[in-house]
Amino acid sequence: MSDPFLENNRNPAIVILDFGSQYSELIARRVRETEVFSMVMSYRTPAEDISKIAPKGIILSGGPRSVYEEDAPICDPKIWDLGIPILGVCYGMQLMVKQLGGSVKSAPGKAEYGKAPIQIDDPTALLTNVVNGSTMWMSHGDSVQDLPQGFVCLANTANTINAAIGYHNRRFYGVQFHPEVVHSTHGMILIRNFIYHICSCEPDWTTNTFIEEAVSQIQKQVGEKKVLLALSGGVDSSTLAFLLHKAIGDKLTCMFIDQGFMRKGEPEFLMEFFDKKFDINVEYINARERFISKLKGIIDPEEKRKIIGTEFIRVFEEESLRLGPFDYLAQGTLYPDVIESSGTNVDPKTGERIAVKIKSHHNVGGLPKDLQFKLVEPLRNLFKDEVRKVGQSLGLPSEIVRRHPFPGPGLAIRILGEVSHQKLNCLRDADLIVREEILNAGLYHDIWQAFAVLLPVCSVGVMGDQRTYAWPIVVRCVSSEDGMTADWSRIPYDTLECISTRIVNEVEGVNRVVLDITSKPPGTIEWE
Ligand code: XMP
Repeated sequence: MSDPFLENNRNPAIVILDFGSQYSELIARRVRETEVFSMVMSYRTPAEDISKIAPKGIILSGGPRSVYEEDAPICDPKIWDLGIPILGVCYGMQLMVKQLGGSVKSAPGKAEYGKAPIQIDDPTALLTNVVNGSTMWMSHGDSVQDLPQGFVCLANTANTINAAIGYHNRRFYGVQFHPEVVHSTHGMILIRNFIYHICSCEPDWTTNTFIEEAVSQIQKQVGEKKVLLALSGGVDSSTLAFLLHKAIGDKLTCMFIDQGFMRKGEPEFLMEFFDKKFDINVEYINARERFISKLKGIIDPEEKRKIIGTEFIRVFEEESLRLGPFDYLAQGTLYPDVIESSGTNVDPKTGERIAVKIKSHHNVGGLPKDLQFKLVEPLRNLFKDEVRKVGQSLGLPSEIVRRHPFPGPGLAIRILGEVSHQKLNCLRDADLIVREEILNAGLYHDIWQAFAVLLPVCSVGVMGDQRTYAWPIVVRCVSSEDGMTADWSRIPYDTLECISTRIVNEVEGVNRVVLDITSKPPGTIEWE
């Protein structure tokens, strides 16, 4: 069985069956915020498999379909006989109603999107301490009409008679709204009620218990063998380095490949920090000339990304042979990658995984499967915010833990067209100024990413009494939750002025600064 949950040492206390909602992952995160371990699984998971995991509760996610459509996704009806408490959210609630003998109807003119105050009829169990009249977030066209036998209505809204329902004896509950989104002001109280009062979960999913469990699991898996880790300096690989170092000490070797596309001072900082300060064995590989010579004459962004990705693998293979042999390769796979590759993000119409390729991403985790290593992936159960907490708890400075994401191909995809030493130096200086000024303005942690992009076109300017003909720098600052969508950040004019003045004064080869005010979509965050 290749399902990831069965490969885990820790079973989830709450299982989320995913019917294709954009919020399934969010439900899992919300549950974990209550210190209870949860995992997202496909709606197709057989009841027998769920029973083997023995969760304390099941949550059925929302989804884009209507339960009365002929090929609508359904869960194994045997889950109703497992004796496990179940909470259905939106589509999940409608499915619960349909499978247990009630009815769901499309409600023309009664669709409800956005915030709605709920009127509570039964303030016990699921709705204990949820304030009457508080706002919940609605997003549905269909509504529950007739309740199945045993169910009672717990709450309603102006447009929805059965906004929350329950069958107390069997511990089945359903909500038409989305308690997991921030707009549902008392949503977390409801989630806690389900987890603690209805499912009787224990709060045992904490950073410290994770570290303890991970350390002993790594020791058990790796024993006396040698482990190789490709360190990038990002929060994932840095946390992984600290965690592995704690577990296996000098049996860990980190390889840091400097392809020459890092930010100013970054390679030096990383070596100073990991190797000298924390005594973590890091092999520094200077591959700068190799990479830049491969990019000579290359202007197509996809080709650039592929060349960098391929070269990275070549260098990695050569160097691991030279430094090895190694038995294990450590990878910073995170839980969202696991969810994606386990096929729970399915198109409910076709049953296929939804994956639209916009750009070929490359990062140190993206090594090919046929490398002759066994894998250690201790972060594969964690969301990014949980990795940050683990990193922090292991002693990583906030400089690393809270740093903005940086793409694997680095500055090479922030120089449009052909990459050269001159452009790299110019972009490095401009990038540093952008980050410094954003930090000085106290905005760094409110922003998802703030960086500079170099455009290979020249425009006319005047400096002193001299005419200039030089490159522009684009300032790109975005706010985002996860990088999938983003809005351009409203940076105060004063900060923009500092950035602009400093760049044209301090960076040779630049005479103009422009601001990117495009959201994603339609733009992407990076320019290539
Ligand atoms: P885009 O440009 O696709 O970027 O809107 C979304 C997020 O992904 C980062 N990014 C990458 N990260 N390897 C990475 O590890 C890559 O090849 C890569 N390309 C983009 C980007 O910085 C943003 O946070």
